[in-house]
Amino acid sequence: MSKGEDQGRNSGSAVRRGMDDLVVDTTAISWVDGEGGNLYYRGISIGELAAHASFEETAYLLLCGTLPTASQLEAFTWKLRALAFTPEKVLRILQELPRTTQPLAALQTALAALSCVDPGERYSKEESLLEKAMRIVAQTPVLLGAAYRHHRGVPIVAPRNDLNHAENFMYMLTGRIPSKRQARVMELALILQMDHGFNSSTFTARAVASTLTNMYAATSAAVGALSGPLHGGASEAVVDMLEEAESSGDVEAYTIGLLASGGKIMGMGHRVYRNIDPRARIFENMLHDISTEEEEEADDDLKALKRIESVATKYFADRGKPIFVNVDFWSGAVYRKLGIQKILYPAIFAAARIAGWTAHILELRQDNRLYRPKSKYIGDLDVPYVPLEERT
Ligand code: COA
Repeated sequence: MSKGEDQGRNSGSAVRRGMDDLVVDTTAISWVDGEGGNLYYRGISIGELAAHASFEETAYLLLCGTLPTASQLEAFTWKLRALAFTPEKVLRILQELPRTTQPLAALQTALAALSCVDPGERYSKEESLLEKAMRIVAQTPVLLGAAYRHHRGVPIVAPRNDLNHAENFMYMLTGRIPSKRQARVMELALILQMDHGFNSSTFTARAVASTLTNMYAATSAAVGALSGPLHGGASEAVVDMLEEAESSGDVEAYTIGLLASGGKIMGMGHRVYRNIDPRARIFENMLHDISTEEEEEADDDLKALKRIESVATKYFADRGKPIFVNVDFWSGAVYRKLGIQKILYPAIFAAARIAGWTAHILELRQDNRLYRPKSKYIGDLDVPYVPLEERT
């Protein structure tokens, strides 16, 4: 039978490359309202959470399903701190990696290594799943901090009991206790990126977890998915574009030239949003909030990004395909303002999304079904086996 001939095996199965618009499962964790330009965690809009919630509260919301009471929040916060204790063996593995290792590659390795040092974790026991999720959420910033400090060639810094999750994350990266304002910006960045429907890494976490393997294996695989430039690398790419635009000396001409040559404006467009990504505006407001009026006046990044946005938005609107900025357009500029190196942008994404990944694994375990899609076979059939000595 020749290539491409349909033997009836795939009849009726339309191929949906990239799983575009394919609904593979239900979830009550987050909803991306692409038309309305909103994002909800457990039904609460992201704007509300960004205005009022802490990292710990939002993580509780995703993992446990509701906002915590004051006593539940206190217990959850202390438990997270206790679970941040990271096995020495795993920290040693991180220190054996080449110093050039990207933080996400190190995190992926460390999560896989954790499954080796957590006895009884080979096949997760249902009663300990929430605790395992919390341990993974708590240890992720520790692992990222250790990986980054190894990359910089400076000693690892252990988390402190008197700091909250976002403060500790910054402390473990830089070795300095951040100001309240810096820590709140980091906390917001984590909250905004915790969950986002069935994005590629979340789908990966669910697909791997659906085999009933352990949570470390599923989250380690999710980090692998996130590490691709089409997923976790866009905020870095925006800053690269910004640097090029600024050094060109004419941001407007640079933007028009990029578009005219068929190039992509990084940080614009989205598979789901057909409206503004609500997280983008919150990040933009953060950039204003962390600058004084005088700083804002002198802020070349802010001016250049605003110029790129307005030129590109008009360009797309004039061509009848409105495209708007997404979360990554402003996040890199915010991190830059905080003095965070580009290599860490995907790491911040992972430190946030780990809460979403683990929440999805918990949700799936309540009514697990193995993810097993079909493919359309387009190869040949009944190809004869040619003995080795007869092959040319
Ligand atoms: N710059 C220039 N053109 C863009 C664009 C961008 N950022 N985003 C989309 N377009 C154009 C495409 O070239 C395409 O044009 P065409 O119809 O002439 O072929 C059209 O808009 C539709 O784009 P498409 O790639 O099909 O949209 P999508 O919804 O599948 O893709 C992204 C969404 C995110 C992949 C895409 O917008 C993109 O690459 N953006 C830049 C990278 C980025 O910011 N990624 C982070 C996402 S959170």
